[in-house]
Amino acid sequence: MDIRVAAPAKLNLYLHVVGKRADGYHLLDSLVAFAADGDVVSASPAPSLQLTIDGPFADGLSNGADNLVHRAASELAAAVGRAPAVALTLTKNLPVASGIGGGSADAAAALRALCDLWSIAPDDARVEAIAAKLGADVPVCLRGEAAYLVGIGHETDPAPSLPAAGLLLVNPRVPLPTPPVFKARSGPFSAPARLERAPRDAAELGAMLAARHNDLAAPAITIVPAIRDILTALEATGGVRLARMSGSGATCFALYDDEDSAIRAAATLNPSWWALPSRLSTRLPPPIRCE
Ligand code: C5P
Repeated sequence: MDIRVAAPAKLNLYLHVVGKRADGYHLLDSLVAFAADGDVVSASPAPSLQLTIDGPFADGLSNGADNLVHRAASELAAAVGRAPAVALTLTKNLPVASGIGGGSADAAAALRALCDLWSIAPDDARVEAIAAKLGADVPVCLRGEAAYLVGIGHETDPAPSLPAAGLLLVNPRVPLPTPPVFKARSGPFSAPARLERAPRDAAELGAMLAARHNDLAAPAITIVPAIRDILTALEATGGVRLARMSGSGATCFALYDDEDSAIRAAATLNPSWWALPSRLSTRLPPPIRCE
């Protein structure tokens, strides 16, 4: 028996840094949604904990105890008092260290798979505590619904309903770890800016988001200047409703009315970039059991 859980790309549709805590973590106001595509985590019972990583971005990722998927499994097993007797496979379709959840989405998917396998409620307080410990984006990926981040991002508030939209993700194939980007941020903090109401369609979503921004884009561009080239190229694609960097970068996304427009736009970009046409998603699919 095998349980498969989608670990789609996470997107920060806007991200305002609204303050900083004494411990160095930043207070955020961000609207998070997902792509319809991304990594996949599967889990099946096994004599001991094993992690296999395959897929186009498997190279260079450790499958040892420091991998977030591995940590998710061992910490959950310890918390519920059982042996971590599970074989996990991570199919890494998304670039690593790229601002779209990556390790966080994978860790959350592993928690969801193991909750299904071990009959634990995913909203069990022990699971939520492990998610918060594993990384700032793990809780929102575990809950699996579009949401506003609260505080440093461990808490969430429900998002307004979001329209169907095409989505194009583009990465310069340069990994960008998060801490140096937050470190390079300077200047005054932004005000929170939640959407005033639910947007009707992709055009209105783009217009509402255009009045907001990603405060980490400027510092990220100082580290990876190719981000600016990607944003400029995305802004020039046909039918684009918004082009923006996600999270701490370097992945950028563009919104369109439909996926076909995103596919057409992808064909016009620098072929050395990684590009994934997809759709905006507001709720992750449930785990799938394959007997
Ligand atoms: O929690 P996570 O490991 O995902 O965060 C990586 C780093 O990003 C943190 O060590 C911190 O430097 C920075 N960060 C932050 N404020 C947040 C989230 C992350 O400063 N809200």
